[in-house]
Amino acid sequence: MTPEQAMRDAIALSEAVRGTTSPNPPVGAVICDADGTPVGRGATQPPGGPHAEIMALREAGDRARGGTAYVTLEPCAHHGRTPPCTDALLDAGVRAVHYAVPDPTPAAQGGAAALAQAGVAADEGLLAEDVRRGPLRAWLHHVRTGRPHVTWKYAATLDGRVAAADGTSQWISGEAARAEVHALRTKVDAIVAGTGTVLADDPRLTARDADGTLLSRQPLRVVVGTTELPETARVLDDAAETVIVATRDPDKVLAVLAERGVVDVLLEGGPTLAGAFAKAGRIDRLIGYLAPALAGAGPAALGDAGVSTITDMHRWVVEEVTMTGDDVRVSAVPATRQD
Ligand SMILES: NC(=O)c1ccc[n+]([C@@H]2O[C@H](COP(=O)([O-])OP(=O)(O)OC[C@H]3O[C@@H](n4cnc5c(N)ncnc54)[C@H](OP(=O)(O)O)[C@@H]3O)[C@@H](O)[C@H]2O)c1
Repeated sequence: MTPEQAMRDAIALSEAVRGTTSPNPPVGAVICDADGTPVGRGATQPPGGPHAEIMALREAGDRARGGTAYVTLEPCAHHGRTPPCTDALLDAGVRAVHYAVPDPTPAAQGGAAALAQAGVAADEGLLAEDVRRGPLRAWLHHVRTGRPHVTWKYAATLDGRVAAADGTSQWISGEAARAEVHALRTKVDAIVAGTGTVLADDPRLTARDADGTLLSRQPLRVVVGTTELPETARVLDDAAETVIVATRDPDKVLAVLAERGVVDVLLEGGPTLAGAFAKAGRIDRLIGYLAPALAGAGPAALGDAGVSTITDMHRWVVEEVTMTGDDVRVSAVPATRQD
């Protein structure tokens, strides 16, 4: 296995545990033996559980001796709830470590230096961009800003409408896009919607399969706004936990969520709330599903975002455009992003 293949495996392991590790990072690790054969794979366990390196070393056992570790994040060098991963790697006799991105947290950083001091080569940067934009995107943003990372997801017609003139909006996007969104919901810590959407559509805001069965992991449901919801609102059922944040201030919402250990947020609407988040500069990525349909009237995807003239426009950079079923899926980030 080449170093790149090993790191790709580590990224896949990392991606597979997204949504289960917050506030800790979802890290993946692969140990290859002295011949380059993968002998151990691991990913971060839920908070308080072992880190990815430990899981991979357990699987590798003695075969780790003289081998190489591939880890998506620099191994930690500190005693947190678990002992330092650098000690475990050294005890196992690993000869070299490749990690994609350095650990920015003051408490945990210094792992590479500790390894180097013990005579183990520690190399940074292998597939770093894939990790930064992939499984560690939200966590790195959270460490840098102290706020959860917000992905605004919407489904619109080609002319940018998220509902018809009478307010009906189910379903704009196709089945494939809806399935993808349900899978995405299981990977985030919280889904956020405004009272407007809850009152108009009575959504469940749960992650379900094509038959409507609840998936094994459900994110926190968050409703933002001051209007009281009817007791019968589906979002108040017991399928998942729901928090109502009776405010109109995006930063207050994010502070409440950060306090609950939320790192990765999916903002699902509607246009008023999304506009407020955009105006406050609190959308860190968007995922738009553009359906091959025209509505001609009805609400636009984004409400008032504080733009009154062309020079005020929020400029974005497209990261990816793909087809999801018959819909175009656009992923973009603000041109001013720092992550
Ligand atoms: N296609 C899609 O992707 C999609 C997704 C979601 C919704 N929708 C459609 O969007 C429509 C609902 O739109 P909407 O804009 O009313 O929904 P919304 O954005 O979910 O909710 C609006 C409400 O959010 C609250 N709010 C929170 N922060 C605010 C702020 N800073 N400024 C103003 N209000 C704030 C207000 O509630 P209070 O008055 O209670 O304070 C406001 O009435 C429905 O037709 C729905 O089907 C479409």
